Amino acid sequence: MDVLVLAAQKGGTGKTTICANLAVEAEMRGHGPVTLIDVDPQGTLSKWWNRRQADTPALVEIDVAEIEVQLRTLKAGGAKLVIVDTPGAITSHVRISRPYTSSATW
Ligand SMILES: Nc1ncnc2c1ncn2[C@@H]1O[C@H](COP(=O)(O)OP(=O)(O)OP(=O)(O)O)[C@@H](O)[C@H]1O
Ligand SMILES: [Mg+2]
Repeated sequence: MDVLVLAAQKGGTGKTTICANLAVEAEMRGHGPVTLIDVDPQGTLSKWWNRRQADTPALVEIDVAEIEVQLRTLKAGGAKLVIVDTPGAITSHVRISRPYTSSATW
C-alpha cells in the first residue's frame, strides 16, 4: 500500500485539487482501491467527495491522531493507495501525518 501525504507551507496551492484528481486518475488506471483521508479541519476534500456521485475513490474523515490505526485498517482491508490531504500550513496535522508517507512501511 502506498501512502501519499500532500503538504505545503503555503495555503491555496492546490493540495486538495491534486488529491482529488490523483485519486480519480489512479482508480481509472487500475491502481486502486484508493482511499482519500481528509485531516484538514476545513474539510474541502470531504465537501468535494460528498458532492461526487461515483462510488470511488473512498474517503475517510479522521482525527489525525488516529492516522496510524486508520492506515493499518485500510491496509488490512486491501487499500492499494491512500492519499492524505492536510491543512494549508505546517500544523500538527502535517507534522503527525507526513512521516507516514512511505510505500515501505505499509
Ligand atoms: N492547476 C490549477 N490551475 C488553476 N487553478 C487551480 C489549480 N489547482 C487548484 N486550483 C484552484 O486554486 C484554488 C486552491 O486550490 P485548493 O483548494 O486545491 O488548494 P489547497 O492547497 O488545498 O488550499 P488550502 O491550503 O486552503 O487547503 C481553488 O480555487 C482551485 O480550484
Ligand atoms: Mg485544501
